Amino acid sequence: MAEKAERNGGTAVCPGSYDPVTFGHLDIIGRAANVFDNVIVGVVDQPVRKQKTVFSAEERVAFIEAEVAEHGNVQVKTFDTLLVDFAREHGARAIVKGLRAISDFEYEFEMNQLNRKMAPDIESIYLMSAPQFSFLSSSGVKELAMFGGDTSGLVPDRVAARLQEELKRERN
Ligand code: PNS
Repeated sequence: MAEKAERNGGTAVCPGSYDPVTFGHLDIIGRAANVFDNVIVGVVDQPVRKQKTVFSAEERVAFIEAEVAEHGNVQVKTFDTLLVDFAREHGARAIVKGLRAISDFEYEFEMNQLNRKMAPDIESIYLMSAPQFSFLSSSGVKELAMFGGDTSGLVPDRVAARLQEELKRERN
């Protein structure tokens, strides 16, 4: 049997809104944790940004923390600064993100150029999503939950339960 490869990549940041975390995100975080010594999951806590989130930053962090404990080298933190500043603050050499489909590429390409301009020393690394998660997004899951669809198998059970509560309340 092949030996498990050693991790020696230093620290990486896996950033996102995670509203809420999905099994697709958790797959990327787990794969990053297999490669890097330490992974910091950065949860955006920036209320002026985009539309309002369904879950508070604290709850989004708690959802992720409950799922990543098994890795032992993953921490979850909020940030409200530039992503590259957050990465620097934690001594990260890399930003790791998932890429699902061509549709993700344009946005990520732009973010990559901006982040590279501000911090050429921090490398952005993209992991291709596993095929079973290539259709999965937080916004898709929220849409499904809003109309009573079954989100089990897409998000952890406690997230699915909280989504039902929150979105039912919004509908009524
Ligand atoms: O698609 P997401 O999950 O909302 O992505 C969030 C994030 C921070 C990964 C993305 O917006 C990004 O790469 N931003 C770079 C620019 C930046 O630093 N923005 C400030 C965020 S507080």
